[in-house]
This record gives sequence, structure tokens and C-alpha cells, in this order.
Amino acid sequence: MILLGVNIDHVATVRQARQTIEPDPVIAAAEAEAGGADQITVHLREDRRHIQDYDLDKLMDSVTVKLNLECACTDEMLGIACRHKPTQVCLVPEKRQEVTTEGGLDVTGNLERIKSAVAQLKDSGIYVSIFIDPDEKQIANAKSIGADAVELHTGCYANAETEQSQQDELKKLQHGSKITLDHELRLDAGHGLTYTNVVPIAQIPGMAELNIGHTIVSRSIFVGMRSAVKEMKSIIEKAQG
Ligand code: PXP
Repeated sequence: MILLGVNIDHVATVRQARQTIEPDPVIAAAEAEAGGADQITVHLREDRRHIQDYDLDKLMDSVTVKLNLECACTDEMLGIACRHKPTQVCLVPEKRQEVTTEGGLDVTGNLERIKSAVAQLKDSGIYVSIFIDPDEKQIANAKSIGADAVELHTGCYANAETEQSQQDELKKLQHGSKITLDHELRLDAGHGLTYTNVVPIAQIPGMAELNIGHTIVSRSIFVGMRSAVKEMKSIIEKAQG
């Protein structure tokens, strides 16, 4: 069964729009768990545009499923991760100006830096995943520096403008998934997945975990977080047959 990580960043985005106390990501996390979330995912960005440090403090106490912290590979973020010890850290690239994460981390081009980050996190007992594009070399390098899992970036698949290019991106993800499993890395995926495009990704053999945020938070505005998560879980379950 594929596990669903629910990314609640954009609950905090709404709160930060008014610099107030609602909606509270802690309540969103509890509602997501009630809807069947197997994991709560948050991205503590360097510019703190949505999730704040105090959210992470509170979520560490309140979340009863796995807590996945996405963060950039910086000394500040690694320090925060090692102090809080979430179940899992997913290392992601980060640019200040981007609206959302634009691509996978370049492990190949930053091998020593990321290797030492992985070691630091693993010394603190944290399970480490790296968010990368479905590229053979990136996957092999993620393995070589000791990552436990890779999260394949599904953004290009999700944003493809034609059916043909979406199929091409899906093929890259299917191939990258096979390479990931050949390297005995856990296979996760995420970014840009929605209620309508998730099925082919959920049908990739060996997929362990999907991290999905924006579409679930969007739907939760109309049906509530619990139902929004239940609906996504049900689509993923049916996709697996
Ligand atoms: N996985 C990673 C590594 C991400 O950076 C994000 C966005 O923060 C997600 C998954 C979730 O993406 P979306 O909000 O598009 O579902």
C-alpha cells in the first residue's frame, strides 16, 4: 500500500497572508491524520513564507504519524532538523524567488556537501530522502552518498502541456523508479500531483510514498481536510487495484 504524506504548507500560507493565528497547521495535521494521512509533510523554507519554526515545534508534539521535514541543505536547516529529529528529512533545492520548488536537488554537482548533510542527519537518527529528478546519475549518486530514499520530482509530468509530453515525462519517471529500486533505495514521488493526475504515478511498481500538498489543501477549502485526504487516499488505493 502506498503511503500518503500530506503537505500542509499552504494552510500556513493562508495564515501568513494575515499574520494571524488561523488556520492552524496543527489542526490541519490532526484533520489530515483523521482522514487517513500516513505522514505529515512540511517545508520550512529559508524565507519562512509559510511554515514557521514554532509550527515545527508544535507539530513535533502533536503529529502521531510520521513527520517529514523538507528543507534546503544549509547549516541552519540541518541544525534545526538535528535538534527536532523529525522521522524523516527530505533534502530539497531552494531558491528565494521561486513560487514553489522548481526541480530536483543536483546531487551530482554538490556531492560532498550533500554527502556530509546526509551523514549529519543520519547521525541524529533521521531517515533521509533526497528530492531529485528521475535521472540515472542523480539516483546513483543519491545511493552512493548514503540516502535511504529518493523522492522523484513529478513536477515536469504534472506541468506537461500536451498529452504526448506528459507520456514522455511519465516514461522518465517509470524508468527512474526502476533504477531507484535497482539501487535498493526506497521510492517516493511528489510535486504537482492532483486528484486527476495521480493515478499513473500511483501505478508505478514499487512506489512507497507520495507527498501531496497544494491540491489537497485546495480541496479542503470546499470539503474539509478530512474528506479531502480521504478522497485522495481512495484514488490512490483504487489505482493500485
Ligand atoms: N515534495 C516536495 C519535495 C516538495 O517540495 C513539495 C512542495 O513543497 C511537494 C512534494 C508537494 O508539492 P505539491 O504542493 O505540488 O503537492
